[in-house]
Amino acid sequence: MFKVGIITSSDKGSKGKREDLSGKVIKEIVEHKGYIISKYIVLPDDEDELAREMIKMSDDLKLDLILTTGGTGFSKRDVTPEATRKIITKLTPGISEAIRYHSLSITKRAMLSRAISGIRKETLIVNLPGSPKAVRESLDYIIDVLDHGLQILK
Ligand code: MTE
Repeated sequence: MFKVGIITSSDKGSKGKREDLSGKVIKEIVEHKGYIISKYIVLPDDEDELAREMIKMSDDLKLDLILTTGGTGFSKRDVTPEATRKIITKLTPGISEAIRYHSLSITKRAMLSRAISGIRKETLIVNLPGSPKAVRESLDYIIDVLDHGLQILK
């Protein structure tokens, strides 16, 4: 069964000032799919810290899938796509295009998400937006096809 890492990027969440509801939504959806949550961490919006954790989850823990939430918008502190871009070797634009395509039918603001996705070694990394609502709408839409991609990647 696929092993998953969840990274919530949130300055407030990492200081315990905001409950991480988005990470919980990811957990619920991937567990329902039968995947195993190997690691779940809340980090501040810091490019180097995020990149370091993604490398650890991929190279050391050898996780199949890393799902991030938050930090994909226009705020100065939003750097999750930049951290992801740094550590992947292949882009998987179709996944992020699909999320935006579907999300645009729900809210035009989906065009403000700068989320990306890609592959590092045998790990697929997908950025999801920050709100629990957006996470559910995005992940529900892609999860079945992700499964097929992960099988090929292994
Ligand atoms: N996608 C879906 N499906 N539903 C949403 O409500 N909100 C958008 C967008 N994507 C949204 C969505 C908004 S308002 C923003 S600003 C961007 O995601 C970036 O979100 P983030 O900065 O929280 O990551």
